[in-house]
Amino acid sequence: MDSLTHFRSMDESTPAEWALIARSTQGDTTGAADQALAMLQRLKGASLCMPVDPLEHSLQTATRAFKDGADEETVVCALLHDIGDLMAPQNHAEFAAAILRPYVSAENHGVVLLHEIFQGYHYFDKVGLDRNLRERFRGHPSFEKAAQFCERWDQAAFDKDYRSMPLGEFEPLLRRVLGRAPYTANATPHVDYMGFRINMTPGEGGHGRG
Ligand SMILES: [Fe+2]
Repeated sequence: MDSLTHFRSMDESTPAEWALIARSTQGDTTGAADQALAMLQRLKGASLCMPVDPLEHSLQTATRAFKDGADEETVVCALLHDIGDLMAPQNHAEFAAAILRPYVSAENHGVVLLHEIFQGYHYFDKVGLDRNLRERFRGHPSFEKAAQFCERWDQAAFDKDYRSMPLGEFEPLLRRVLGRAPYTANATPHVDYMGFRINMTPGEGGHGRG
């Protein structure tokens, strides 16, 4: 592949080369929506021992949100909330939230981030856990919406007889949301150069120091 830049290390790179790189990442030129669609397709037929496969669960969650009159961004969050089921089964909510964070509101980012614990309200008591673990997040700005997301759409989306909308019907919504300029929908601290944005909150909220 012919490259427009020629450095062997970042130390060698030039401002002109970074200008080229930054231009190539504006808008959805890196294909975030295409990547998300491909990841969703890979969920098809995956056996997680659930009544429906994770693609059908995702479509069913998004369809229920759509038919409930949820806004476009929320429907896209519903569609992608389990996109990490195969790659990151132990922290799939963090995985999806990280992908969505640049493009959605802080509230919706929180909904996706919290859904792994909040869906437990609907089954944790069946596996020996406290179904009210979500109470640790009482007061979180996304608490109410995350509870509603799980109750009305996520936990209800395992019905093999439900008629979900096909993935193609969600594609325009997905392309619009993932095609937004990063971090215009929320106030995530970031540095901005030449239109390229880097999240300045890596590891936020988890790592104790000493
Ligand atoms: Fe889910």
